[in-house]
Amino acid sequence: MSMSENLQVLSPLDEAAILKAVENALQDCSQAQTLEQLAFVRSSHTGEKSPLALANTQIKDLDPKDRAAAGKNMGMARARITQALGTKQEALEEEAAARILETETVDVSIRSGRVTLGARHPLEVLIEDVTDLFVSMGWDIAEGPEIEHEWFNFDALNFDIDHPARQMQDTFYIDSASVGAEDGQQANLVLRTHTSPVQARSLVSRDLPVYIACPGKVFRSDELDATHTPVFHQVEGLAVDKGLTMAHLKGTLDHFARAMFGPEAKTRLRPSFFPFTEPSAEMDLWFPQKKGGAGWIEWGGCGVVNPNVLRACGIDPDVYSGFAFGMGLERTLMLRHGIADMHDIVEGDIRFSSQFGLVGRGH
Ligand code: PHE
Repeated sequence: MSMSENLQVLSPLDEAAILKAVENALQDCSQAQTLEQLAFVRSSHTGEKSPLALANTQIKDLDPKDRAAAGKNMGMARARITQALGTKQEALEEEAAARILETETVDVSIRSGRVTLGARHPLEVLIEDVTDLFVSMGWDIAEGPEIEHEWFNFDALNFDIDHPARQMQDTFYIDSASVGAEDGQQANLVLRTHTSPVQARSLVSRDLPVYIACPGKVFRSDELDATHTPVFHQVEGLAVDKGLTMAHLKGTLDHFARAMFGPEAKTRLRPSFFPFTEPSAEMDLWFPQKKGGAGWIEWGGCGVVNPNVLRACGIDPDVYSGFAFGMGLERTLMLRHGIADMHDIVEGDIRFSSQFGLVGRGH
């Protein structure tokens, strides 16, 4: 695009020259292929330094009688250019928009790289709910090792040396050689068979009074079937203070039951036996949502802490007393959500977990 016309100042009265300038402008305008080029054409032909703008500034110096004609010439010339620029601007903008539509089209049928959201396992969510409940009651959350010393798992809990639970067929023993025990020496380690060893651990390590809940993994040599799994979870509760009775146990269990299963839930105790509680009870849950009508369902074990356990942990049973309870969390989850098969809980299929929602709260 030549700007040579700039060199020679046009006279606003020179109609031929003005027409030529207009034609130049119109030609440049028609040749512009992009909005950038058009902007350049606009500034060359209508900008302050353009031949026509310069000619325009001369009108005021003309003989007054010529000014009107010159003004009209210039006005028409400039109007033609402005109009051509406008029309071209619109056309180029439309083209640009069409090009964007074409080059930036999204093919909605192409497989996206979207990652499916995971889901929390409902058991984890349940454990969190249980933990929140006991913390809200002012209890501490306690933990213990999954590989446990026999003393905590059995002896401290008043299990006789020949108690059947100590038998190989119920309990996973850790091979002594595998943990580097000397020949003939016993490591006396087991995979804990219940969360109750955390009772003894808490009593020997904490100041009294003790109010703890302990959710955790436990192990028993059961086959996996619809209602059993060799690795499962329990929540243990233990309170040791002055003046605690079975009544406190019952109140705590009812409160726990309502928090898990709704306001109509409650518990009932049936005499039973555990070496570490005396008296001991099985607790049943009044379960309003039970299939085929509300009814009692076994939920766990409980009792008043056996004085022998307090003694084993260095606590005077004449001054302190307490209660303890333990229930299976898989069982709690199955009851709470009507899950019929343990396989669903242990297999880790995302389609199972995601039914409970990302957070999974609420029942
Ligand atoms: N540990 C017992 C079990 O696994 C349950 C229990 C806990 C019983 C606390 C009494 C007190 O069956």
